[in-house]
Amino acid sequence: MASYFAVINIGQPDLKRKSQGNGSILTISSSAGAFARIRGYEGARAGIAQTYGVASLITMEGVNRQIVLAERPVGAPKESDFRLVESPIPDPGPGEVLVRTVFLSVDPYMRGRMRQNGGYARSLDLGEVMIGGVVGTVVESHDPRVGVGDVVEAALGWQEYAVAPAKALRRIDPAVAPISTALYVLGMPGLTAYFGLLDICRPQPGETVVVSGAGGAVGSLVGQIAKIKRCRAIGIAGSDEKVRFITGELNFDGAFNYKTRTDYEAQLKQLCPTGIDVYFDNVGGPITDTVMRLINNRARIAVCGQISQYNNDKPEMGPRWLHQLVSKQAKVEGFLVFQYADRYEEALRQLTAWLRERRIKYREDITTGLENAPGAFIRMMGGHNIGKALVKVSDVASGTA
Ligand SMILES: NC(=O)c1ccc[n+]([C@@H]2O[C@H](COP(=O)([O-])OP(=O)(O)OC[C@H]3O[C@@H](n4cnc5c(N)ncnc54)[C@H](OP(=O)(O)O)[C@@H]3O)[C@@H](O)[C@H]2O)c1
Repeated sequence: MASYFAVINIGQPDLKRKSQGNGSILTISSSAGAFARIRGYEGARAGIAQTYGVASLITMEGVNRQIVLAERPVGAPKESDFRLVESPIPDPGPGEVLVRTVFLSVDPYMRGRMRQNGGYARSLDLGEVMIGGVVGTVVESHDPRVGVGDVVEAALGWQEYAVAPAKALRRIDPAVAPISTALYVLGMPGLTAYFGLLDICRPQPGETVVVSGAGGAVGSLVGQIAKIKRCRAIGIAGSDEKVRFITGELNFDGAFNYKTRTDYEAQLKQLCPTGIDVYFDNVGGPITDTVMRLINNRARIAVCGQISQYNNDKPEMGPRWLHQLVSKQAKVEGFLVFQYADRYEEALRQLTAWLRERRIKYREDITTGLENAPGAFIRMMGGHNIGKALVKVSDVASGTA
């Protein structure tokens, strides 16, 4: 990276003396726009910011803003469960790069990580930066495989800057599709829809596929892939707008709003007159209990998520429908997208082709500003997103928020 170094000397004698004393330097990168950072003298920034004009602007941009877990949520997450903190932008070591976040993803699995015992993955500690997928620009590289200005994707968390080993990054080609799709159609939700539907459910032409959470990131893709495989796609979603989106824009064959049409069985019988061959379950709870009553012989059910249960302390008790699996000789299989890691390339090739052929369409629900990430997460958990919930943290070109 083309950069120059200068001893901090912006007119405050104390500061100059201190900075020389501990070897602090202000780094200004010309290739990354206004990107600047302080090394080794954290305390300087507040004083500089209060007192000095231009220098204060530069110095404030040397701060890394992060969202950390402040409290473990009880029930639905709320703003006070998160805290915005500042820290110095970290230094990459050999083989590492510094990434500036452009988009970050808010996803339902994060709710599990906020618990004391998060389940299949490690729980976040209190005070720890919220985890999450990020698409960002490389602003400093200490590895020949990645250059400054490259766009990359990795699990870097809810923060403006992060250091990561170059080998842990996925390079994103902005010529293929808008870079935000690396967190959606061409990222984790796309892979989840692809493998959960095609590998576990193996839908056949003419079969009826029902998907819950159909207006969200994974669900909206599941229905479209089902259509590509010449199935009948039926969605269950939580608003009339989502129903219009998936039946109008995405070409689902039918859908209903489970919040206003609470007679789930009647709705499903009407929309699936020949029964249900495949169920892609994103939500669990009473919706799934109803679907299970209507499955056909040899039905396949992929358990992708159970979002209706994520805010509960104890699992909700429901009807015991396992007998249906016996009488219908049906298969239920839970999965985690990561179990398919060695086949991601195959799926991304196919999803990219479908995207380019416009056989897959998508909508993003973008919130601006890192400080608004908790709100975006809360909105998504409450069903207020259509398509993929994302947070835009900075611009890819200018590196400014
Ligand atoms: N197995 C895996 O590897 C894997 C990977 C990614 C995602 N997932 C799971 O897939 C599911 C969808 O994830 P996503 O990222 O695509 O999220 P999303 O659908 O974009 O957003 C979550 C949606 O869940 C719905 N929801 C919230 N509370 C609900 C409730 N009580 N009952 C029914 N629906 C509820 C809301 O839509 P409505 O308006 O319809 O209520 C909300 O918009 C989640 O369960 C997630 O955990 C699993």
